Amino acid sequence: MSDGGVTVSPAVWALPVPDYLEKNYWWAYVRPRAVWVFDRQWVVNLILFGNATRLIDSALEALGSSIPGRTLQIACVYGDFSRRLSERIAPGGSLDIVDVLDVQLKNVRRKMPPGAPVRTIQRDSTALQFENASYDQAVLFFLLHEQPDEVRQQTIREALRVVKPGGKLVILDYHHPRWWHPLRFILPPALRLLEPFALGLWRRPIDQRLPKGLAMRCDTIDGGLYQRVVVSV
Ligand SMILES: C[S@@+](CC[C@H](N)C(=O)[O-])C[C@H]1O[C@@H](n2cnc3c(N)ncnc32)[C@H](O)[C@@H]1O
Repeated sequence: MSDGGVTVSPAVWALPVPDYLEKNYWWAYVRPRAVWVFDRQWVVNLILFGNATRLIDSALEALGSSIPGRTLQIACVYGDFSRRLSERIAPGGSLDIVDVLDVQLKNVRRKMPPGAPVRTIQRDSTALQFENASYDQAVLFFLLHEQPDEVRQQTIREALRVVKPGGKLVILDYHHPRWWHPLRFILPPALRLLEPFALGLWRRPIDQRLPKGLAMRCDTIDGGLYQRVVVSV
């Protein structure tokens, strides 16, 4: 099946909406109206305190200017991220975008340029149902902070499982800001209300959640408010 030039691989079984997503994020992702409200680059930039371009650039820089082989984006993202990622796929390469919500996959297809080497596939990040070592690189862009701790750990395990030895996993997400950062004090009440699992990444950063012995590079962005972890699998 194809939609606007993007190949659509439907789920072979009905995927339930995870409880945490329906309970905490129905307003942001699950209801079709949410897509209309939030999928604007300026809204994404506002949510990321003016850092959207910098964070997208940081993820893309870690993946390279021309990305060969098979790339997996785990979870759709509002704004420009997926389109910009698709533009970097090298000739002969491909990008698979998975999300648990069909409404999000439909929306990401709408944003893809005609002929982009992109497939959308409905999958849950905790059970990707792809072969071991079947991707050259994978990216988790601001998914982990939305997931409860045990779900987050399973998403990381799955992402590492599907990337080939010698491949790369790029993760961007929230992090504990440094002591002088004004948002260090302002953000926690807002996060508790709107993003109830995000403070888990303040308490225990991503590098501490990865299996020991993996080679990785960890950087923080904007006074520690965000983290980028590039894992060599
Ligand atoms: C990547 S996160 C948020 C990124 C960022 N805040 C933005 O601007 O979109 C949002 C996406 O994650 C998806 N998602 C949440 N839990 C998921 C899961 N278990 N498996 C696959 N996708 C999931 C949601 O459906 C949503 O499309």
